[in-house]
Amino acid sequence: MKSTMTAVAVAAALGLAGGFAGEAQAADTNALKAEAVGVVKSFGGPLKKALGGAMKEGGPVNAISVCNEKAPAIATKAMTDSGWSVGRTSLKLRNPSNAPDAWELNVLNLFERQKAEGQSPATLAFGEVVETNGKKQFRFMKAIGTEAVCLHCHGKDIQPEVTAALDDLYPDDQARGFSEGDIRGAFTLIKDF
Ligand code: HEC
Repeated sequence: MKSTMTAVAVAAALGLAGGFAGEAQAADTNALKAEAVGVVKSFGGPLKKALGGAMKEGGPVNAISVCNEKAPAIATKAMTDSGWSVGRTSLKLRNPSNAPDAWELNVLNLFERQKAEGQSPATLAFGEVVETNGKKQFRFMKAIGTEAVCLHCHGKDIQPEVTAALDDLYPDDQARGFSEGDIRGAFTLIKDF
């Protein structure tokens, strides 16, 4: 026991303990990030497919129900399959229940700064281990860029019947006026340890 303590003390004195711990944590974090990217795909992929199909079939008014009803259902499936908590958030919200918490707000602002510095939304992601009330969690966010298809419901020039349907469902909607290439929001994931 004593020799172990001494070895730890020596390692600490040489600055090794911190170095090893840091490397181990970085390796863990990289694995968690890779896992998170997979979970984002299992949510974002089917969602985009459902949206594209509904748009083709019946236009944007018909497709609103995909975002309104299918998005939460697809998120629930991704959560059940992966064990991660999965959602979407934004600085300009359509559904107030997607509101960011303090950590998410910081990351959304970070993404906006990185975009202003010239980075493309598709490349923006951030993850770290966070301790809340003594409980460790890995939290991860990935930016969602605005594409042409999104403008039907999030753009500057939305058709009157789409506007009416959105007004009806989301009286406090702030998620309009976006242009292609803007950050529309982000996927937000949590894994409990
Ligand atoms: C047919 C209309 C429609 C289209 C097209 C559409 N959305 Fe949405 N979007 C919605 C609706 C409705 C909601 C609210 C969903 C809810 O109640 O959770 C929403 C919510 C979101 C949210 C969650 C944050 C918030 O504001 O509540 C994000 C992020 C988002 N959309 C991104 C996109 C992106 C990116 C695209 C293009 C790939 C897109 N949307 C295309 C209608 C649409």
